[in-house]
Amino acid sequence: MMPLLTTKGLSRNFGGLRAVDGVDFALMPGEIRAIIGPNGAGKTTFVSLLSGRIRPSAGMVVFDGADITTMPAYRRVRLGVAYTFQITSVFANLTAFDNVALPVQRTLTDGRSKGQVRNGVMAALERTGLADRAGTLAGQLSYGHQRLLEVAMGLALKPRLLILDEPTQGLADSEIDNFITLVREIAKDATVLLIEHNMPVVMQLADRITVFNFGKILAEGTPEQIRANGQVQDAYLGATHD
Ligand SMILES: Nc1ncnc2c1ncn2[C@@H]1O[C@H](COP(=O)(O)OP(=O)(O)OP(=O)(O)O)[C@@H](O)[C@H]1O
Ligand SMILES: [Mg+2]
Repeated sequence: MMPLLTTKGLSRNFGGLRAVDGVDFALMPGEIRAIIGPNGAGKTTFVSLLSGRIRPSAGMVVFDGADITTMPAYRRVRLGVAYTFQITSVFANLTAFDNVALPVQRTLTDGRSKGQVRNGVMAALERTGLADRAGTLAGQLSYGHQRLLEVAMGLALKPRLLILDEPTQGLADSEIDNFITLVREIAKDATVLLIEHNMPVVMQLADRITVFNFGKILAEGTPEQIRANGQVQDAYLGATHD
């Protein structure tokens, strides 16, 4: 089987800081991959290079066989790469419906009708449990629901790869259970790449885990392998973090 996404020597410097440092990475279609690692390890920078939000200093990104290293983010979305931000990025004074409709209208210019857009938006809101909030202003949703709304914004783009950056941050325990169910549902027809600090969520969801430390991949393996890895214990699992 061909990987859906690979990186070769992917690097990003900020001044003298090597935030992402020569990363070789491969993601198989259909898998749920978690990225974990200490604060500042380069996780958000890495997925920002995959989504096209920022450009690499060196290296390449290949998606479905095509070199997308310098492709703008909106074109990557059209290829099927969707991304939600670590920090809530919904528009507070738009309704939940309009928040989801906006990225669809902005990027999927394939001549879909208003009705098709509407159905796609409602389907994404339904999958995330927000259908009954479609008309609510996003700013009036709970923080947890705003995070779910971001997932809906990604889902409405019909991604082949959905990248989620700390989606459970700020969710209540009951919402986390629903989130785990939702990601398993999404993974039936998409690949999911998830940055996550909540280890129970990682252990329950991930097929494989990639551990970042100082901009490099420290370890990669199944949840069992990562749990048993002494280096990972030292760098991350044993340490306190948010
Ligand atoms: N735009 C930027 N300009 C300068 N430095 C940056 C920028 N973005 C990230 N960095 C630095 O790059 C390093 C990696 O940051 P990044 O946000 O990728 O880490 P992270 O693993 O996502 O951390 P966290 O778990 O806290 O979200 C950090 O030292 C950070 O301060
Ligand atoms: Mg981050």
